[in-house]
Amino acid sequence: MSDVTEMQLLKWHGQLLLLNFLMFMSWRPCRGLNVPNYGSTYRANPTRRSGVFASVRDPAYYDEYQPSGPKPLSQDQRRSKLTAISNPDFYFPPDPEADLAEANEPEPVFERQKSKATPGSFSYNPKDKNGPSHWYRVDARCGGRYQSPILLNTSNAQLVTRKRPLRLDGQTNLPQSILLQNDGHSAKFTYNWRNGDRPVLRGGPLKTKYLFEQFHFHWGVNSTVGSEHVYDYQRYPMEIHLVFYNGLYESFQDAREQVDGIAVVGLFYEIYQHSVDEQLNTWTRFLRNIVTPDSEFTIPFIDTFPLYEVIGDIEWPYFSYEGSLTTPPCLETVTWIVATKPLLVTEKEMKQFRRLQSSTGQMVNNYRPVQKLNHRRVFLY
Ligand SMILES: *[C@@H]1O[C@H](CO)[C@@H](O)[C@H](O)[C@H]1NC(C)=O
Ligand SMILES: *[C@@H]1O[C@H](CO)[C@@H](O)[C@H](O)[C@H]1NC(C)=O
Ligand SMILES: [Zn+2]
Repeated sequence: MSDVTEMQLLKWHGQLLLLNFLMFMSWRPCRGLNVPNYGSTYRANPTRRSGVFASVRDPAYYDEYQPSGPKPLSQDQRRSKLTAISNPDFYFPPDPEADLAEANEPEPVFERQKSKATPGSFSYNPKDKNGPSHWYRVDARCGGRYQSPILLNTSNAQLVTRKRPLRLDGQTNLPQSILLQNDGHSAKFTYNWRNGDRPVLRGGPLKTKYLFEQFHFHWGVNSTVGSEHVYDYQRYPMEIHLVFYNGLYESFQDAREQVDGIAVVGLFYEIYQHSVDEQLNTWTRFLRNIVTPDSEFTIPFIDTFPLYEVIGDIEWPYFSYEGSLTTPPCLETVTWIVATKPLLVTEKEMKQFRRLQSSTGQMVNNYRPVQKLNHRRVFLY
């Protein structure tokens, strides 16, 4: 695009934002919605991590559940969609097509035959009796209407502009130790905090403080698949989930059953193309201690690392929506915050994940298929 058209576009975009802002100022008091100035971050401010890729073509990871579906959007296409939704008419679009599609959906067929799955056990293999489409037998709540993950589309998201900043306090705090577990489905890192050191997430879509509990990952057998959420029709090789629970409740266990109990921050990983061997995430070296299913390993204080070392700064635009845990019991108590800027990982580090074992073999493709959106709204902050 030439400079001239770029300038014109920016100007035009600016006018739309202003119009948009004015319309909302008059409309706002009756709905109490914050409508703010979405802006510069997304368009013109590549972070340290993604800046490296300026000259590399967008990777193309397709959602294998939609082999004939739309192609992943390029950054330019995403930008043009963003401009389009700055038009206030698009904020709460009626969606007759979606309503119709939903009305025509067949009722779920409940099989009478007894499940062979042992209680509580589930599999990611679509061919298994307890595979993802049968998780509702493991726990009925997995058949709910507000499940995760979902497809995240820039073009259907509702832009939130006058937003409270999302903050993660204590991101550089060091824990006393870190418990690393192979729970048969993922690699989970649970930090052991000294009183008062536990990191706290607040702001953005969250009304209260959320305390950090653990993080874990979902990844693929190769780098064309792995993430749970799909962002503009792109699946990434891995997704990290940082799980937080509402500080109003005593513990994660208490909180997870409450409507506002949990917040999960999801970030995608993208392959660092320039060097296979470089260590970008040195903490992946601990994975070799939990190769066997149901094994665990305690990382001693001297080797611990803060959250900051794993996810860096929290300053990306993100999607937010109300959804569920992505494994049984699939509780629909999660406020999702999914970053639009991927982190980086090398193929060598991905191999360290793919070396882990589950009870049925190599622990890979531990991601749940995307779920129906139904009548939920997805916001873009
Ligand atoms: C994304 O687009 C797909 C296909 O049009 C649609 O089924 C899905 O509901 C959309 N997701 C969101 C979050 O709008
Ligand atoms: C990667 O894995 C997917 C899903 O299992 C498979 O369909 C595809 O053929 C694999 N691609 C390569 C290049 O191995
Ligand atoms: Zn997860």
